[in-house]
Amino acid sequence: FTPPLLTGQHVLITAGPTFEAIDPVRGITNLSSGKMGFAIARAARAAGAQVTLVAGPVHLPTPRGVRRIDVRSAQNMLAIVEEKAREATIFIAAAAVADWRPATAALHKIKKDGTGDVPALEFVENPDILATVARTERARAGRLYCVGFAAESENLLEHASAKRERKGVPLLVGNIGPATFGQDDNALLLVDAQGHRELPRASKEALGHQLVAEIARRLAAV
Ligand code: C5P
Repeated sequence: FTPPLLTGQHVLITAGPTFEAIDPVRGITNLSSGKMGFAIARAARAAGAQVTLVAGPVHLPTPRGVRRIDVRSAQNMLAIVEEKAREATIFIAAAAVADWRPATAALHKIKKDGTGDVPALEFVENPDILATVARTERARAGRLYCVGFAAESENLLEHASAKRERKGVPLLVGNIGPATFGQDDNALLLVDAQGHRELPRASKEALGHQLVAEIARRLAAV
């Protein structure tokens, strides 16, 4: 008998897009479907882990046995993640967090005034959730293994390696193009301190299981 790969681990996962309000009825978001993150959550649960899934606005059912917390903005997501990361042993940042948000969200719906004038939106940068978690003492002491994602249109290996260093995470997973938003399959490039390897095109479900096995192998090695 071999115990499931992630027995005793607590996996925290972000998934989906974030939504950044402009006013009470409008906002900016992106086309992330959340499918990859939800597939990883299912795979981690199947591998015996306790799983907390922090999801932006997506249309996906909650995986069985997974604790799901819905959030809207990057700031909401960061607050929940910082709290849950205190107990997690693995953090997988699969969410497509909006890089910027409107500097202020109007309290009331912005009205079209009939003059043809258009509102000017000013943006501020959102917090980097992954980098923030990776900088915590827990992560730096090796008690929280952090995994990031990268969606790049070109020079994936180069960008993924640079991103791994910049975010300060041991493992960075690149989405091998073309754009996989909303699709059911994907191909992944895993980059760590040892080098890189490709997980060839497969369903996100299958890739979730392979990624979980790759993470478990790296955890067992330390
Ligand atoms: O910098 P970039 O957005 O390309 O980095 C992607 C990785 O960082 C993903 O793992 C994503 O979930 C995470 N990220 C984050 N918070 C942000 C931006 C990205 O956690 N504000």
